[in-house]
Amino acid sequence: MRVLVVGSGGREHAIIWKLAQSPKIKKIYCAPGNPGIADLAECVDIPAEDIEALCQFAKENHMDLTVVGPEVPLTEGIADIFEKEGLKVFGPNKKCAQLEGSKAFTKDFLVRHKIPTAKYKEFTDLLEIKKEVGLFGYPMVIKADGLAAGKGVVIAENKEMALKTCDEMMADKVFGHAGDKVVVEEFLTGIETSILCFVDGNTIVPMVPAQDYKKIFDNDEGPNTGGMGTYSPSFIYDQALDTKIRGQILDPIIDGFKKDGLDFKGILFIGLMIREGEPKVLEFNVRFGDPETQTILTRLETDLVDIIESVLEGRLSEKQIQWSQRKTVCVVMASGGYPGNYEKGKAISGLDDVEDGVVVFHAGTKKKDGKVVTNGGRVLGVTAWGDTTEEAQEKAYKNIKKITFEGAYYRKDIGRFMGDI
Ligand code: AMP
Ligand code: GLY
Repeated sequence: MRVLVVGSGGREHAIIWKLAQSPKIKKIYCAPGNPGIADLAECVDIPAEDIEALCQFAKENHMDLTVVGPEVPLTEGIADIFEKEGLKVFGPNKKCAQLEGSKAFTKDFLVRHKIPTAKYKEFTDLLEIKKEVGLFGYPMVIKADGLAAGKGVVIAENKEMALKTCDEMMADKVFGHAGDKVVVEEFLTGIETSILCFVDGNTIVPMVPAQDYKKIFDNDEGPNTGGMGTYSPSFIYDQALDTKIRGQILDPIIDGFKKDGLDFKGILFIGLMIREGEPKVLEFNVRFGDPETQTILTRLETDLVDIIESVLEGRLSEKQIQWSQRKTVCVVMASGGYPGNYEKGKAISGLDDVEDGVVVFHAGTKKKDGKVVTNGGRVLGVTAWGDTTEEAQEKAYKNIKKITFEGAYYRKDIGRFMGDI
């Protein structure tokens, strides 16, 4: 098979790392890719958002399958366009991608299908929202309805901050049209965890759970980031929680998809808040998570191409998906200053010095004069495995020290349990 993967992050590197292990794969292309991906795939210089050019490339180069990593092309309908052209594509259609592209669409879906989630109200008028500011008390969770590169959620501690946020989103349009509509939610507390699922329209199959660390500093302090690391399996995930999640969340989701005519084929990423063993849905994404994928796919034993084919053909219920018992930890190396301003173009050394049982997934890197340099906020995901989480953690931290670039920053506590449940 000839496969095109769309995207250029650590997630896409992990997807390609796994796809490349399949005996069915003849050649992998990646648009646009990165230097780490270039070791496994041919990178083509097409941006992930240029659907027309991607479609043309897939047609002209006879792709048997295209796997879409990021959310933007999915919400813009890449799956519909490829399918119309007779091209096989792994990722949900535009209608289903609203589950990531619109917070209001998702909240309406969750409430109608009685899936546990925070109370909410949507607003399209600045004066209305200002009249009702603090309607669920403080902190007030204020979300831009549309895509905002992971930055569209503000937790306002008090009335002053809430009013300022409403002005910024709805009047100043800091997130553009994503803020035309705003969703206000009740503030939930507990432990967050992510469940990624394969979905074929009829069947939903959860993958092994992974835990993301969103804050920039140790002990979950400082501003939110795209994710500073993950580990799998998540400590809080046990049989009782699994049963609850299946019964209260996964089953109603798939029933809801059927009732609403949502023919979802692809990955559904469910962000959960767990309090006293009770899960509530925080958000959906319609793609693999980053950096969750790095610790999940390094535990997958079944051929990923086989799973994707069974999703596209609606045969997921027949598929046995095997996971390794190994534990995995991914520590993200970021540019100094991230998630604020940071410099790019710093030479990276030591990439080839890591030992067996460790993979370095590239995210924000590029080649300059033949050398790999930094090219983004999250630069690398050093991913290690072992028999225990502690062993995987030790290995990740031992090997991350071998890699250096000016200003490199990483959390020291990835894989440590946070919380009080
Ligand atoms: P979202 O993109 O909707 O998942 O929101 C991003 C992050 O904001 C989540 O991962 C949570 O840390 C936080 N968050 C979102 N909604 C809530 C809520 N209702 N209560 C508390 N925290 C929330
Ligand atoms: N790690 C969160 C995400 O991929 O959105």
